[in-house]
Amino acid sequence: MSELSKRLQKIPPYLFVELDRLKNEKIKEGADVIDLGIGDPDIPTPQEIVDVAKRALEKSEYHRYPANPGSLFFRKACADYMQRRFGVTFDPESEVVALIGSKEGIAHFPLAFVNPGDIVLCPDPAYPVYHLGTIFTDGEPYYMPLTWENDFLPDLGRIPKDLWRRTKILWLNYPNNPTGASATKDFFKETIALAKKHDFIVAHDSAYVELYFEDPPLSIFEVDGAKDVAIEFHSLSKTFCMTGWRIGFAVGKRELVQGLAKVKSNIDSGVFTALQEAGAYALSNLEKIVPPLRRIFQERRDVFSQELKKLGFEFKKPSATFYLWVRVPQGYTSSDFCKKLLQELAVVVTPGNGFGASGEGYFRVALTVGVERLREAVKRLATLKP
Ligand SMILES: Cc1ncc(COP(=O)(O)O)c(C=O)c1O
Repeated sequence: MSELSKRLQKIPPYLFVELDRLKNEKIKEGADVIDLGIGDPDIPTPQEIVDVAKRALEKSEYHRYPANPGSLFFRKACADYMQRRFGVTFDPESEVVALIGSKEGIAHFPLAFVNPGDIVLCPDPAYPVYHLGTIFTDGEPYYMPLTWENDFLPDLGRIPKDLWRRTKILWLNYPNNPTGASATKDFFKETIALAKKHDFIVAHDSAYVELYFEDPPLSIFEVDGAKDVAIEFHSLSKTFCMTGWRIGFAVGKRELVQGLAKVKSNIDSGVFTALQEAGAYALSNLEKIVPPLRRIFQERRDVFSQELKKLGFEFKKPSATFYLWVRVPQGYTSSDFCKKLLQELAVVVTPGNGFGASGEGYFRVALTVGVERLREAVKRLATLKP
């Protein structure tokens, strides 16, 4: 009776159980643990956003059920942001939907379009929700390796030709978690051309698109014709240090956005309207609010990468995201190396294989602690014995 569904049984076990146990043990022992594991900014949400939310809380009309696809004022703020930042136009009424965080939309999207046995192309390593959402629809994930040699972009030419016929969705995520890589316009063009040729959906996860330190990363909609085949998921979580608030949005081809909105209207009841007011304020004031946050993460990236390089670690310095994707020294697996860092140095990083088989040989550092703690982490790394 309480046997889990076959679908849920297909969900792979949580890979970080052992590491979590070790971390908690260390904390209990009183060790000064530096946690570079979690992709959750340590910086509080900017006060002006909190203030808008506080005032919005008092509005009694917001205490009732929210508008399901999002209030029009929020969707207008999303469309306006897409226009300002990327020069692309979306109809707020039919081409934008509010999400309870982008994870929610990413997980639910396959329910709208994937039938049992359909192929969903997922990057590897990756944020796990692309393949987990696929499993929930009885679709079949097919993993596209992201390799150092190919700048952590999938090599679309290597996907077996006979798979395209069964392919329903191709997931991408740039700037990328966990590799920190960004996509080129040519790569997006190649993807959109293939999607048109083989008639599949391109779903692009843009959660880190505002966390950049060099050239601003692209929206997939900056490629001509993308709106015929694509949907893009945006998150306010990392951009405004709002991970706890749970708000994001999706934009794209009308039918794709409407398909997702239909799933959602049958599962959830939308985003609390006071939150949408804070979200709309944040998006409308992004150019003022985000640069100081970017500077904080840029300093962390610069300090940490400079020091880590000196120790001989190999990685490509990311131009966006707050992640460093670092090769483990020879002679270790990802898990062994991360365990060693935790046990001997009380430093938590994430083993690359936790993001998929192709992540083996790497570990991910999340720059979600201040510069002084990062310096301390590198100091400890310098004492590491082989
Ligand atoms: C690549 C990527 N996409 C999406 C998300 C989900 O973000 P949220 O649901 O907070 O919008 C995350 C969170 O870590 C992520 O790393």
